[in-house]
Amino acid sequence: MWAETALEADKLDARLIQTILSGIPLPVILVGADDRILAANAAGEAILGPGQVGRHHALALRQPALLATIEAALRAGTRAEAPYVIPGHSHEVSYRVTVSPVPLGEARGALCAFEDITEQELVGQFRRDFVANVSHELRTPLTTLVGFIETLKGAARDDPAARDRFLSIMEREAGRMSRLVDDLLSLSKVEAQERQRPTALVNVAELVNAAAASFRPAAVDAGLELEILGTDRQARIPGDADQLMQVLQNLIENAIKYGAAGSRVTLALHAPNDEAMLRIDVTDDGDGIEPMHLPRLTERFYRVDDHRSRDKGGTGLGLAIVKHIVSRHRGRLDIGSAPGTGARFSVFLPRN
Ligand SMILES: Nc1ncnc2c1ncn2[C@@H]1O[C@H](COP(=O)(O)OP(=O)(O)O)[C@@H](O)[C@H]1O
Ligand SMILES: [Mg+2]
Repeated sequence: MWAETALEADKLDARLIQTILSGIPLPVILVGADDRILAANAAGEAILGPGQVGRHHALALRQPALLATIEAALRAGTRAEAPYVIPGHSHEVSYRVTVSPVPLGEARGALCAFEDITEQELVGQFRRDFVANVSHELRTPLTTLVGFIETLKGAARDDPAARDRFLSIMEREAGRMSRLVDDLLSLSKVEAQERQRPTALVNVAELVNAAAASFRPAAVDAGLELEILGTDRQARIPGDADQLMQVLQNLIENAIKYGAAGSRVTLALHAPNDEAMLRIDVTDDGDGIEPMHLPRLTERFYRVDDHRSRDKGGTGLGLAIVKHIVSRHRGRLDIGSAPGTGARFSVFLPRN
């Protein structure tokens, strides 16, 4: 839309500018030398609200950083960027506004192009949080190791009993660091492959049996019965066998670790021929999980009970890895649990 005040002689230019602006998918507004908004495309009006054309830009935009940048473009001909944030109901939207001086006849205007950088900022925030979490997770065992090395060099040098005890602790902490690094590498690998769907054919029944076999000793140690159902039925699906094995291992390991209060862990394969998805349920009858935690369980480093997870050597990354692998297979993970009733982790995978 054009300001009514535009001079008759400028009308042609005005229409041309308006046409150009309306062809740009970004929100764009043009401020004239008289500080009034001269034109705005539809995306621009969507941000500022309707009826802004003709108003003083300071009334329409109101954010000091952007106003100063427009001022500089109009008076000094400077091109610069400014942030602009629209507070929203659920989340705020952040824009990077590039303000460029443009000649308008004898005078100078300021063209403001708004670029939505909300997503980029969230990604940046996510990365910073992730790096901070990883550093924290590594620092804790590292501090323990450094402390014990000092002790072994000094006070405990000639005490064989203490030396053995400290070395065991050091071994455990080094193991923790090594598992963390392994999990981080798995995670980054799956993330990198997430868009390439695996094509090799995997025999799921065989996989479930193999996964169960590898956990028999751990189940016996925990005093749990490990029950396997449905693996007499053959089911081949497109998949990455190593990664699907990782999914099963993470879920069974969790069921054994956190379901130890119960008596049984069940692995059940449901693969009816007439359904598009097959399903693997890993069920325990341990303490279960409060509903408020369920949506967050697959977040990196999210643990219901920090102390318990660490105590059991957990990295907090297992379910994040599971989620990414399942999503690479175009499947889905469903978690059902309530306190006192155990937990059920269901992996749905497309049959073809
Ligand atoms: N079967 C389960 N029963 C109860 N809580 C569970 C179960 N599986 C996972 N959890 C909870 O989910 C959290 C995240 O699991 P995971 O990502 O595998 O990390 P980790 O096992 O290293 O702690 C665990 O710390 C635990 O609190
Ligand atoms: Mg785990």
